[in-house]
Amino acid sequence: MCGIIAYTGTKSAAPILMDGLRKLEYRGYDSSGISIINRKRIRTFKAAGKLLVLEDRLPDEIAGACGIGHTRWATHGAPTDINAHPHMDESARISVVHNGIIENASALRKQLENSGIICVSETDTEVLAHLLASHRGPLIDAVRSVLKKVQGTYGLAAIDKDSPGSIVIARNGSPVIIGIGDGEMLAASDMSALARHTREVIHLDDGEVAELTATGFTVTTLDAQPSTKSSSQLTSELEEYDKGGYSHYLHREIHDQDNVVLKTLRGRLDTRFSTAHLGGLNLHARDLLKFKRIKILGCGSAYYAGMAGANMIEELARLPVSAEPAAEFRYRNPIIEAETLYIVVSQSGETFDTLAALREVQRKGGFVLGIVNSVGSTIAREVNGGVYMHAGPEVSVASTKAYTSMLTVFALIALMLGRLRDMSPQRGSAMVHALDELPQHIKDTLQLEDQIEKIAGFMASATSTFYLGRTDAFPVALEGAQKLKEISYIHAEAYPASELKHGPLALISIDTPCLIILPDNELLPKSLSSLEEIRTRGAPTISITDADNEQIDALSDHVIRTPRVDSILKPIISGITLQLLAYHIALKLDRDIDQPRNLAKSVTVE
Ligand code: AGP
Repeated sequence: MCGIIAYTGTKSAAPILMDGLRKLEYRGYDSSGISIINRKRIRTFKAAGKLLVLEDRLPDEIAGACGIGHTRWATHGAPTDINAHPHMDESARISVVHNGIIENASALRKQLENSGIICVSETDTEVLAHLLASHRGPLIDAVRSVLKKVQGTYGLAAIDKDSPGSIVIARNGSPVIIGIGDGEMLAASDMSALARHTREVIHLDDGEVAELTATGFTVTTLDAQPSTKSSSQLTSELEEYDKGGYSHYLHREIHDQDNVVLKTLRGRLDTRFSTAHLGGLNLHARDLLKFKRIKILGCGSAYYAGMAGANMIEELARLPVSAEPAAEFRYRNPIIEAETLYIVVSQSGETFDTLAALREVQRKGGFVLGIVNSVGSTIAREVNGGVYMHAGPEVSVASTKAYTSMLTVFALIALMLGRLRDMSPQRGSAMVHALDELPQHIKDTLQLEDQIEKIAGFMASATSTFYLGRTDAFPVALEGAQKLKEISYIHAEAYPASELKHGPLALISIDTPCLIILPDNELLPKSLSSLEEIRTRGAPTISITDADNEQIDALSDHVIRTPRVDSILKPIISGITLQLLAYHIALKLDRDIDQPRNLAKSVTVE
């Protein structure tokens, strides 16, 4: 989604803003722009398309040590030069960049038109620039006053040519983080744009407005009451934000997964009591025992991770667990029970619907744990307790390492809850051992890449594919299909293999490659029947299995044999083969792998 960067200090602002925008590219965007103040004049440059187009439009040097920049992901109005941010008022006194959606923009626009002000763009943001310019006096007062009239969500940054060196930022529903530098201050939508300049950051909360100058900052509420803020340290290293020698972030992130899982597990396996230790839950064993059910909420791949996690917890802790898309949950007036433990899952910690679901549960008195990657993110700060994934920054829009880390956290929670209930020390010990060996098994799985690359050619010409799996393998099929759709744009539909006869079989033909996940378990004979049904209809088949079964080889065009792991961890291993497959198919099709069309990394609007 849109990204904001702002800088005030003593250095030339333009290169810093452009570098920040490059770091924000991964969030997804379709136009960009910057505004710089110098000698009581604001110069604005913007362009539809990639940052290279904007770069081409910039003069060799733009004087000025204070400015704002933006990558826009179109919501109100097409991705054009005019609709790109920053937006200015008619006298070019104010410039503003904004993430989020102003819901009453049409009403505000009408009011402006009635007073003779014509908006030149189709955006909701431009109204903010005109409204801010209609106030005399300090920009921060104007921002507070205008935002009181605004309904909707925003993260914004504004400058006023009459206050050079000062930037006003505000937040309601869309993240803005202050970066505290040495004789300079920055603000950005996420840490990636700040990491090069500072390690000390402050997260603005909803309803807060801040004024930044080169030497300091003040944070207040919309009612001008001072807010007490404390800073935190960036947890990621600068090099974690680059491609590390790979040609795509996605490829690097897939290959990072053995290491990521090692970090997710670090210090959490307890061999003495054959359990897992999860600091930060804010729940004692006796509190955990009171919960009779678990409800997991998330969006997209985080929801699919939740489905896989539900199976893990049910299996090991024998508690009823269900997962639901966060947006669906929050809009159906859910029943919140004191005996249910709610878990929200999010890589970014900023997904709007997941955050809204969390707030809905808390409003009704529920207790919510978070499984979050982004340290200090809004969800991480608002949950009642939680587990950080420690997966490091995930840049590619398609989630891979964060998804695998989510599953690893669920396995830890399942082990911990299982051992609190009736899991034997022997089973607990086997799980601890299996988790300890997981990074090595992931490494071995990544070795299958050459074989998977060859199979990718076989799938790349398809227009429609099916991903099938039963019980534990079904969420894997969903996530595998999602990966293929996201980055290759090939239609992929996931079904429980048991459902084939109830509808989708009508579509199976020689033109629909089918990928089926067949774990070596008691359901293998059933999965084999499904494979046979598909084969009979002439569909090309790829089987993902850890079973040594000749029938699978006889019925499949290709078999990907995965390392054998504990049954609970099989979804993690088979999931990685599907990530590699999607990556190589997208590569063959020459897709924009890290920034797929129409998608954004962090979905901070509904
Ligand atoms: C995954 O590949 C997708 N980009 C998307 O489904 C993502 O998982 C979803 O938007 C949730 O994001 P979050 O984990 O940051 O909340």
